Amino acid sequence: MTDIRRVAELAGVSLGTVSNVLNRPHLVAAHTRLRVEQAIADTGFVRNGSARQLRAGHSPLIGLIVLDVSNPFFTEVARGVEDAANAAGSIVVLCNSDDSTAKEQRYLQSLEEQRVQGMLITPVSSSETSMQRVRRRGIAVVLLDHPSRSADLCSVAVDDVLGGELAATHLFAQGHRRIGFLHGPSTIRQIAERQRGVLRAVKRFGLNPQTAVLNIAVPSQNTSEGEASAELLLANEPRPTAVFCGNDLLALGLMRGLAKYSLYIPQDMALVGYDDVDFANVLSPPLTTIRQPKYELGYKAAQLLLEETHDPDHHIHQQIMFQPELLVRESSLFKRTP
Ligand code: RIB
Repeated sequence: MTDIRRVAELAGVSLGTVSNVLNRPHLVAAHTRLRVEQAIADTGFVRNGSARQLRAGHSPLIGLIVLDVSNPFFTEVARGVEDAANAAGSIVVLCNSDDSTAKEQRYLQSLEEQRVQGMLITPVSSSETSMQRVRRRGIAVVLLDHPSRSADLCSVAVDDVLGGELAATHLFAQGHRRIGFLHGPSTIRQIAERQRGVLRAVKRFGLNPQTAVLNIAVPSQNTSEGEASAELLLANEPRPTAVFCGNDLLALGLMRGLAKYSLYIPQDMALVGYDDVDFANVLSPPLTTIRQPKYELGYKAAQLLLEETHDPDHHIHQQIMFQPELLVRESSLFKRTP
């Protein structure tokens, strides 16, 4: 890599003049500035951003660690993060933990080494130990899609207990008395809280949790697991008449799996998803789901992080909780007599 000395030599100027052209061009005469810019182009010189950040004591980089970059939910969240960061002149480094605490720890370490100005993270586990360690090293952290338990840590989340309750209540109100709950590992907070919401609905309808809900746990909330779960769902007797899926990817996969058995939605099996990702309303039939304010989640979390990093003395930590919304579409609209 060409260094700054080669540029100065080629342009016939001092190192200080080259530095001024890069950092304070208004101090350099136009004809000199053009000579230096030509030498930069001819040598292919690229300034060392991390060295510059170290000298300046701050970095434009923001780390964003999500559970699954292939899930459209996180894509839209990342869109909100990037819009807020870009407006503030920051750059987002996207990391994918794949629901793995080991991978998450490696990314936390790498981002610390890069001396990012702050991190946004959807943590794999509910432990805040790692986040507090990062903050003790002077790096701001905001929990994303995960409520913070401590008042000194910002977080932006959605009420997943209410989301699960809205989904199950809708199905019980349609007359279903035995529903499947198809979900990822309950170690993931969002899933555990949706499960709590389902049980809150069971209780409110005066139903027996043992018979009213068939829990079907899969290793990951993706379309292939959703498709594969159809066989397990149909093997259970008495067969549920509806399924609430932990996210829209599972619901899409289950639709594909049920189609192999010539089962029609919603007549043979009503479906409710979670997230309201872009494809939800263009499926056939359109998917009833729980809308999460994905873009707003990301944008607000990034705003809180930027406030904390740019003005730490006046920043006030916030734990923001957005509300989910039930969007009723055709995939669950079929009245049943209880
Ligand atoms: O897989 C994690 C899920 O939790 C996503 O689909 C989204 O619903 C998030 O809240």
